[in-house]
Amino acid sequence: MEHPREHWGSRIGFLMAAMGSAIGLGILWKFPYTVGQNGGGLFLIAYFLCVIFLGIPLFVGEILLGKKTQKAAVLAFQSVDPVHSGWKIGAYLGVLASFLIMSYYSVIAGWGMNYILMSLSGFYSGLKESEIEGAFTLLSHSASISLFWHFIFTAVTMGVVFSGVRKGIEYWSKIMVKILLALLIVLLMFSLTLDGLKEACHFIFYPDIQSFKLSSVLEALGLAFFTLSLGQGIMISYGSYVAPKEDIVKMALIVGFSVVVVAIMAALTIFPVVFTFGLKPDSGFGLVFQTLPYLFAKLPASMVISTLFFSLFVFTALTSAFPLIEVVAANIMELFQVSRRKAVVGTAIATFVFGIPSAAANSGAIFPEWKTIFQTNFLVTMDSLVSVWIIPIAGLVTSIFIGWRMDIKIKKAEFDQTPLNAKIFPIWNFFLKWVIPVVMIVIIIQKSGLFNFDRLLGGAF
Ligand code: PHE
Repeated sequence: MEHPREHWGSRIGFLMAAMGSAIGLGILWKFPYTVGQNGGGLFLIAYFLCVIFLGIPLFVGEILLGKKTQKAAVLAFQSVDPVHSGWKIGAYLGVLASFLIMSYYSVIAGWGMNYILMSLSGFYSGLKESEIEGAFTLLSHSASISLFWHFIFTAVTMGVVFSGVRKGIEYWSKIMVKILLALLIVLLMFSLTLDGLKEACHFIFYPDIQSFKLSSVLEALGLAFFTLSLGQGIMISYGSYVAPKEDIVKMALIVGFSVVVVAIMAALTIFPVVFTFGLKPDSGFGLVFQTLPYLFAKLPASMVISTLFFSLFVFTALTSAFPLIEVVAANIMELFQVSRRKAVVGTAIATFVFGIPSAAANSGAIFPEWKTIFQTNFLVTMDSLVSVWIIPIAGLVTSIFIGWRMDIKIKKAEFDQTPLNAKIFPIWNFFLKWVIPVVMIVIIIQKSGLFNFDRLLGGAF
């Protein structure tokens, strides 16, 4: 039974949903420390260029594929090229990536929920640094508490996606993105008053040639794809809800630029706090769950700041989680002709169950030998599997597919809607055919450790 396809209620609704997907944990904790590890200012420029020249073109491509076919990822590939159906692998990989990300993203976001409660109760007052750090160790090693929050986060996400594109995703993204931007602005204002601001600005914007490597550019590109939620079928299904007359190039530019601006705002919020207390920018989980709470504890109005920060953390995670469930459910709906409700509930149950080993990753309650065999815990293994392999390969296949297999007349007709877009069409098409695929192959080689491109420069950088 075919239902009429649901479309976004408004342009702003689509923009908010796409921004909500992009602005997530990647920007809140991954972006700041990656900037630091990769030469500060130069990395920022590289990230900026990657978003503009590679991210935005693929973003336009994915939306276009969804918009023209009015299908979520798998059937979109199929309807463009019914004969060579092997290309669909790109869509399946994207859907798989979304499924896997949701399974562990929800565990991390769940810890964030726990920290909101901890902040509200002022847990850190009077505690020593080691005790504050120990609180995270305790939490992340407790399989039962991690599982509890994993369940809550998955259930909330499911509840939103269950209600549909307009009433669920669009409605809640509009509200939550506004709240998260307001929270970020409040926290940023506060950070701008701290003593560490100058050092933080130097750290973020000063081009440090010494610590810049060729691999940093690849790192910047990987991050650009992750933050723009590309290579995961997400923008294809979001594109399938876009109304025919929309200017997708303009929308892609708005989302791309806002992501860059928010990323810089997040860095400017976090680093002044770190530098005010003379600490080194740490990496990953440690920065958000251990260093920051310790520093918040020393600030005036610590309870408010800490509660606001972790609320921001959870809101960004939620708006990024909607599309993760949506893309899997939308494909199941189309492929197996089941109702939205069944598809969404089924997907949520499956991601929850698959996430159980991630929630128990540190406790060793499930797969106790995992760490010995793979060197990292289950959660981190899933994250690297997705970011190092699945997203780049799915992005590569999608780019080649849109560049080479999609009818040029259909693509051109979309760009011909405005004179300016008509002019950039050949450049865009060239990027999808050649530039993005080549860069993606280089990324896959570098990330997989097959060859280290820094060697090409003989370590000069
Ligand atoms: N883009 C999100 C972030 O920056 C993460 C994400 C990846 C969300 C894939 C949805 C899909 O955190």
